[in-house]
Amino acid sequence: MSNRICEILGIKKPVIQGPMVWLTDAKLAAAVSEAGGLGSLGPNAGQTSVTRDPGETAERMRQEIRKVHELTNKPFSVNVLPVQNGDDIYTPPMLKVIYEEKVPVVTFVGEPDEKMFREFKEHDIKIVYRSLNPTPENARLAEKFGADIIVATGFDEGGTLPDKVLGTFSIVPLIADSVEHTPVMAAGGIADHRAFNAAFALGAEGVYCGTVFLMSKESRMAENVKEAVLKANAQDLLLFRTIPAYYRSLPGDLANTLVEMDKAGATNAELGKKMGGFANLRIGMLEGDMDKGYVSVGHGISHINKIMSAKEIIGTLCRDFKNCKNRSAAGEAIIFSGTGSGCAERMMNLLLTSKPLSSEMNRITDMMLSPLRLRLSFLRY
Ligand SMILES: Cc1cc2nc3c(=O)[nH]c(=O)nc-3n(C[C@H](O)[C@H](O)[C@H](O)COP(=O)(O)O)c2cc1C
Repeated sequence: MSNRICEILGIKKPVIQGPMVWLTDAKLAAAVSEAGGLGSLGPNAGQTSVTRDPGETAERMRQEIRKVHELTNKPFSVNVLPVQNGDDIYTPPMLKVIYEEKVPVVTFVGEPDEKMFREFKEHDIKIVYRSLNPTPENARLAEKFGADIIVATGFDEGGTLPDKVLGTFSIVPLIADSVEHTPVMAAGGIADHRAFNAAFALGAEGVYCGTVFLMSKESRMAENVKEAVLKANAQDLLLFRTIPAYYRSLPGDLANTLVEMDKAGATNAELGKKMGGFANLRIGMLEGDMDKGYVSVGHGISHINKIMSAKEIIGTLCRDFKNCKNRSAAGEAIIFSGTGSGCAERMMNLLLTSKPLSSEMNRITDMMLSPLRLRLSFLRY
């Protein structure tokens, strides 16, 4: 069972484990890739200490990439996050390492960059493009510059939240309808097979998840944080303004203070300063001090009830992949219905195997397939 996302990335299940600053490492990325998805290394992958030296940062990533290569021969990705305005001293050495270590996929976050995309293509690297603020305009630009896959992220996600407060249900069809031929993946709050199915119903062809993999056996997130997330649901999460826009966290001294400051009218800059950047994410989520640091997770936590291996998580998410596939194949069958006799066989196959479609889809499918159904019933009896 495969689809366009799987074919582009050379994977078995259309699931990407999104990069997460401090919280990914070779073990998690390789486990996801071994299980048929695409694992990713994020900033400071496998590290416990900070370095501000760009060369050292890139060399540390090189070591982690080599560990992934030792653990799996399956594809994986590395996060590329160019600084948008100003001097970007970190990206050039990181790109050199990515090219030298033959990383097969990049998860690129930021505004689409024609020059960089061309360079990725020259190195035979697949581009998964994700904007922090997805819009039809940046999706179309990414498509024009050659992105292989576009991720539509909704406000339900964990990590840095989009400025526009559009939930996953709103942003996925908006982006899917904006591009011409590039497959779209859904991100934000996806943690079980129902959300996976919904993503497909909304026009996505795969899912891009962070939080659910933080809760895996292989994840390096602190065990006490995993326990706290298991006990919580989305309603427990605190939301506050910061730089660039919003963040959310499980309650704790720092998160509670940030909410109070937000209510009292502190500026985003003041809130960002107090939040303490990713250093306090490391303290909260990697070191497990949920009072000094913060714990950023997505709305999908309501549906995470036990710690599973990355393989079990992918199996759970993709439980109905066959039917999701049929759902989009039904659309294709309609398009191809007039084009030749080979399609009849494909459509008959669909009729026999597909699960209920959306009512609109059902109506159209019924219209197109009713003569075939007659023939089919004739053949059956
Ligand atoms: C704690 C945390 C840190 C994150 N850090 C990064 C990052 O460094 N780079 C990036 O591209 N995305 C980052 N993300 C976003 C994820 O890659 C992914 O898009 C997001 O987690 C999807 O939403 P979900 O958590 O609801 O599954 C982060 C997410 C979380 C939860």
